[in-house]
Amino acid sequence: MGKIKAKLSAGLLILFASLMMSNVVAAKSEIEARNEVFAKDHAAQYDSWRATSELDTLGGGLDEYPDMVILWAGYPFAKDYKKARGHFYAITDIRESLRTAAPMKDSDGPLPMACWSCKSPDVARLIDEGGEDSYFEGMWSKGGAQVVNPIGCADCHDTASKDFAEGKPALYMSRPYTERALEAINKPFEKASRLDQQSMICSNCHVEYYFSGKNKAVKYPWDNGITVEKMEAYYDNIEFSDWKHQLSKAPMLKAQHPEYETWSQGIHGKNNVTCIDCHMPKVQNTEGKVYTDHKIGNPFDRFNETCANCHTQSKQALQDVVASRKEAVRELKKKAERQLVHAHFEAKAAWDAGATEAEMKPILQDIRHAQWRWDYAIASHGIHMHAPEVGLKVLGTSLDKSANARTKLARLLASKGITHEIELPDLSTKANAQKALGMDMQKLESEKQNFLKTRAVEWDENAKKEGRLLSK
Ligand code: HEC
Ligand code: HEC
Ligand code: HEC
Ligand code: HEC
Repeated sequence: MGKIKAKLSAGLLILFASLMMSNVVAAKSEIEARNEVFAKDHAAQYDSWRATSELDTLGGGLDEYPDMVILWAGYPFAKDYKKARGHFYAITDIRESLRTAAPMKDSDGPLPMACWSCKSPDVARLIDEGGEDSYFEGMWSKGGAQVVNPIGCADCHDTASKDFAEGKPALYMSRPYTERALEAINKPFEKASRLDQQSMICSNCHVEYYFSGKNKAVKYPWDNGITVEKMEAYYDNIEFSDWKHQLSKAPMLKAQHPEYETWSQGIHGKNNVTCIDCHMPKVQNTEGKVYTDHKIGNPFDRFNETCANCHTQSKQALQDVVASRKEAVRELKKKAERQLVHAHFEAKAAWDAGATEAEMKPILQDIRHAQWRWDYAIASHGIHMHAPEVGLKVLGTSLDKSANARTKLARLLASKGITHEIELPDLSTKANAQKALGMDMQKLESEKQNFLKTRAVEWDENAKKEGRLLSK
């Protein structure tokens, strides 16, 4: 009886609450996304956070490796892909990237809301206010006047807590989909040690994920595990693909940036040396007060407080080790890319020569796997440092899968009477590679410039007027 009564009154309460709620669009969140609000009370952390603006070199990417344009043919990454820079630039960079194009209306594509997810504490705020469904619904363009503050305090800290106000870390999980993913690998955040939590907060963003369901919500493919093979099997099993390749028509996977996954398989991850030990060391200010350095960048810039805490070798010696591993990864990466470029063009030649779906199916599966493995390794930035042996091994299996695809393609092409080599177009620069795919870059660029001068400016004005963005 007591139980039923409790249930009944709980039901009434929910009914009452939802009646009340129907007058309000969304509850105001206690999550404070405006980083500047903390400038005074947590000056050392704020100032060092803000100094990520000094990490401002772009470039690399497609300019350095034009073959990647071909690998991503038919997918937004073929338009634009650059090296990452400091957290401070997250909003600027996603707006400026040609990948997000120039959506002039809220409902314009091409990308969904999910693309904001790793850019801003406003994402945590919006999810807290309206729930995940309401956050993920719609196109990227819908969120422009809402998601305005770059990666900051409330991405990692429970800014509403008493602990945080008192200057304690109060690390929390700002993304419910990350919380679920960590549960899937039996590492629930709430039960994790302080050290584990320090790396987990980076796993809100530095991970592999995909867009799932009608709303294109973020999900991590971790249900079977986080190695390259386990995630590949997960995707194969649900027959997921990010896009169909423009040349080979293979059902492709785009790896994001599985740094958390690869770090955890490397020697430091296995010894629970956390992201923070290297990227956010404890340092001293001029008065001798110890605080966490929030200028997340290259740990060698703070060698004495990072590597040297645990290692006796000189900075030069360790930098040389890392540089030689970087070169080894780079060499194999370029080889894997070249093989994939050939495979995509040979597959196109096979289609053109009248190959059937059935003939192509096993070949396209090899191409899919080869490119996924290449991408898992290279999109995992810093893999040469975090887990070089994983990087080299995965790239090795990529080469192996490409070789399988190309052997099958050579046989198939021969059976259609084609025995000569399939020639590649001029891929010596990004522009040439894009031209080879028939992409009109000038149009994309000029639309983007117009978007930045009009719509993006309106987003900021609107956000300032409504108090979501403080003038800097
Ligand atoms: C809310 C998402 C998010 C969180 C949380 C996050 N990052 Fe990032 N990180 C990004 C994005 C996005 C970029 C690329 C920004 C750009 O290029 O505009 C980036 C860039 C970086 C870079 C490159 C900086 C450079 O100068 O090239 C490093 C290093 C990095 N993050 C490390 C970390 C570490 C370590 C953590 C955890 C303590 C972390 N990040 C937490 C999203 C995040
Ligand atoms: C990418 C994640 C991340 C972001 C963004 C971030 N912090 Fe932190 N913060 C940390 C970590 C990790 C620690 C250290 C945790 C520990 O010691 O266990 C920390 C520690 C702190 C502490 C505790 C004292 C100290 O220095 O160790 C304060 C206060 C703090 N941060 C304030 C801020 C403020 C203010 C911002 C925004 C301007 C911010 N943090 C942004 C991850 C972050
Ligand atoms: C043992 C130290 C160490 C640990 C632990 C570590 N990193 Fe790194 N990380 C580095 C170093 C050093 C580099 C730069 C390598 C270089 O100089 O080429 C780097 C590079 C990166 C980059 C690429 C930056 C760029 O601009 O290319 C990202 C992103 C990154 N780390 C994120 C993480 C995340 C997230 C974690 C935890 C899951 C982590 N790191 C753990 C030392 C570490
Ligand atoms: C918190 C302690 C800690 C920090 C900080 C740290 N390491 Fe390590 N490092 C370790 C441990 C533990 C091992 C494994 C030692 C073993 O098993 O013999 C290791 C192993 C290594 C190795 C040898 C293993 C291999 O991959 O060949 C290298 C190289 C290395 N670290 C480089 C670095 C660099 C560079 C930095 C700074 C960017 C760094 N470490 C920061 C603890 C640390």
